[in-house]
Amino acid sequence: MTQTPITLTAHSTIEQWLGHAEGGPVLRGFLAQAGTDEAALGPARSMPLQQLVALSQGTLPQEAVDGLVKQVNGGVIPETDPSVWQERIVPGRFEGRTVIVTGAGSGIGRATASRVAREGGRVLAVDIAADRLENLVATLNGHQVVPIAADLTDTAAAQRIIAGANGRIDALANVAGINDDFSPLHEVSDAMWTRVFAVNVEGLMRLTRAVLPVMLDAGHGSIVNVASEAGLRGSASGVAYTASKHAVVGITRSTAFMYAKEGLRINAVAPGGVATGIPMPGTPSAYGSTRLEAARVNIPSIADPAHLSATISFLLSDDGVNINGAILPSDDGWSAV
Ligand SMILES: NC(=O)c1ccc[n+]([C@@H]2O[C@H](COP(=O)([O-])OP(=O)(O)OC[C@H]3O[C@@H](n4cnc5c(N)ncnc54)[C@H](O)[C@@H]3O)[C@@H](O)[C@H]2O)c1
Repeated sequence: MTQTPITLTAHSTIEQWLGHAEGGPVLRGFLAQAGTDEAALGPARSMPLQQLVALSQGTLPQEAVDGLVKQVNGGVIPETDPSVWQERIVPGRFEGRTVIVTGAGSGIGRATASRVAREGGRVLAVDIAADRLENLVATLNGHQVVPIAADLTDTAAAQRIIAGANGRIDALANVAGINDDFSPLHEVSDAMWTRVFAVNVEGLMRLTRAVLPVMLDAGHGSIVNVASEAGLRGSASGVAYTASKHAVVGITRSTAFMYAKEGLRINAVAPGGVATGIPMPGTPSAYGSTRLEAARVNIPSIADPAHLSATISFLLSDDGVNINGAILPSDDGWSAV
């Protein structure tokens, strides 16, 4: 049941805005002006209004959201209700730790790199997109972030990344990944299959293989692999992506078992839907899209990347001390359906 908040802010969900006596008409009017309506929002209704700024990639500026908030609050931006979830930094949790984060240029990887850095860690931020890393470093001015532009499908990438660590790697977050085009097996192209496995599976395996000797020598280390709801079920994506994320689950379990006596912890997080704008390569398969659409009604909500970095940083940190080999859904309950 959705409760109508007394005070609407940018952190109130779109659902709360739409259900609010004043906020509903204001937001509906805004959507109409933008040539759309609430029906187009789908599961995005569960997102905080603020999230639309990042998701729109420039189309919806911060001023527009601030304008809506002011419109329903007598011209002022009220303080955020403390009961609304907000990222709460744990000061010093990664102090003295070196953490590699792949996919650090965008979405979940960026949120994870940012959180670890703001909690005192030295982050080796890896991404294929050098410009995104530059932006991350600029945003985290004053924190320890070492950008390493690398394509994880390049067989030389892992050694280059390790070289940046100066012999110390306390944790590794394998976040980088790509989507498929929702194609089912009778349609999947060799190119799609090969590309998805090259990034999501082989890139992850090769970097982890290079990192493990450093962690084994040190006698400690925490690895978090980002799988997906598609690693738990067959109805979340196309066959290539689904198979690749099942492979990530297998790599996680095998590695956790193999090094359980060596002081290493290896876990995976399985996100549900996350508002990151992860690109869809090419035109989505019509057959796959129709099948997946029917299953998508079970998605409870779309998460903010900061929700995922909360889960990932917990497992990366010493707070995950007794957790090894877990495949932890971070999906608002989708996996329970
Ligand atoms: N967004 C979702 O709904 C969702 C759901 C479940 C799982 N995931 C998984 O979460 C992870 C992060 O996804 P996201 O949504 O943040 O995506 P994103 O596209 O926002 O970020 C992924 C980053 O990885 C980088 N990258 C891609 N290929 C690379 C390569 N070959 N070498 C180095 N870097 C590369 C990209 O440049 C990008 O910055 C992925 O593994 C994805 O499969 C995402």
